[in-house]
Amino acid sequence: MSAAAPRSTWSNRWAFILVTIGSAVGLGNIWRFPYMTGAQGGSAFVLVYLLCVALVGLPLLMAEILIGRRGGGNPVSAMLKVAEENGASPWWGLLGWIGVLGALLILSFYSVVGGWVVDYMYQAGSGVAVATPEAAKQGFDALLADPLRLVFWHTVFLALTVGVVARGVISGIERASLLMMPALFAILLFLVLWGGMVGDLRAAWHFMFDFKPEQLTGQVVLSAMGHAFFSLSLGMGAVMAYGSYLDKQSSIARNSFWIALADTLVGLLAGLAIFSLTFAHGLEAGSGPGLIFQTLPLVFTHMPGGRVVGTLFFLLVLFAAWTSAISLVEPFVAWVTERLGVHRAIAAWGTGFAVWLLGVAVCLSFNDWSGWKLFGLNLFDQLDYLTSRVIMPLSGLAIALFVGWIMRQKNVRDEISLPVAPFQLWWRVLRYLTILAIVLVFVYRLLNPDP
Ligand code: PHE
Repeated sequence: MSAAAPRSTWSNRWAFILVTIGSAVGLGNIWRFPYMTGAQGGSAFVLVYLLCVALVGLPLLMAEILIGRRGGGNPVSAMLKVAEENGASPWWGLLGWIGVLGALLILSFYSVVGGWVVDYMYQAGSGVAVATPEAAKQGFDALLADPLRLVFWHTVFLALTVGVVARGVISGIERASLLMMPALFAILLFLVLWGGMVGDLRAAWHFMFDFKPEQLTGQVVLSAMGHAFFSLSLGMGAVMAYGSYLDKQSSIARNSFWIALADTLVGLLAGLAIFSLTFAHGLEAGSGPGLIFQTLPLVFTHMPGGRVVGTLFFLLVLFAAWTSAISLVEPFVAWVTERLGVHRAIAAWGTGFAVWLLGVAVCLSFNDWSGWKLFGLNLFDQLDYLTSRVIMPLSGLAIALFVGWIMRQKNVRDEISLPVAPFQLWWRVLRYLTILAIVLVFVYRLLNPDP
């Protein structure tokens, strides 16, 4: 597509909601949220996360979609255009760059985990039995120790992702989400019911919702906020890019509300289902990033119909991860096609190749290169830490400052088109509370530098 070609818009309002939920609901909800909750001991993390979604996540989601639609282009040009319209410095364009490049950094490790999912789906489908917790752990360790297997599945996952983006906004991204998201909801609902029937839902509930103030540490607060950013795809140009394909009539506020609600519910439901099964089998909730890969195959092995349910489960995770990964590639590909006039397919595959290379380094950071560490973290953990706890919150802070303090209120109102009272509520929350919350979390973390 050349710079002069008209831009696509989603087929209808529901398409935008589903596609953006597709971006938000991903490994963050089904893999990351349960393992982080487990590793941090449960409820305090969950409650801070919920608070962050309300005070920081939803207001910022609206702000980011707003910039995308107002700017009507990829994140870099959208930021530049809106900055210019409001008499602000072109340096704000950098914020678009941070998002676009940050998204590719995320994708480099996201795709490796996406690869684990495909590997486990394949194992579940071929009936690999995991008899004991030790065997489950060994199975996961064996995957991490095998660079070729990691690179193979990482390649498969990335190719699936790039293949969709190469096909275009409507016939690729929109069509894939419209097919996968309803299937994802159906499978998730089935699994929660299943978890409720055969698992220990009560224990899961207490673990996730009984507030234990002594768990509140700097680490928990920062990681919960980071997770709110990660889960809602904020600060990375993803929702900005999707917002740029949104027609002018759709209500940003209403759409954002549904997106944030759906994303949060999917995380909570996945957590309940996974912890119900984990506790019913007396397994460890705090085993870290391997949680769903170690506990669930064991659970599936020991239950009737486990082969089918297990395969379905990993298919669910695959759909979730796939639609999110698509939204991590799109912002940069949109920039390349619009700015450089490169054909979309070439832009997508070229971008994919660069991400693939970094992903290979991530695969090696678990085995051959595991000795290479910075602050005690391997490359995989470094990328996760840097993106979700540093880049995303800082870029979110900048977006809140931009929409809250730099843009002219008239332009913001024009785009948000809410009645006065709800508009003022959102506007004030964004200008004061969101900004204060992000700053406070950073200060709190600096004052509580626990590991
Ligand atoms: N929100 C996605 C998830 O939860 C990850 C993501 C982050 C996607 C940032 C796009 C941008 O898995």
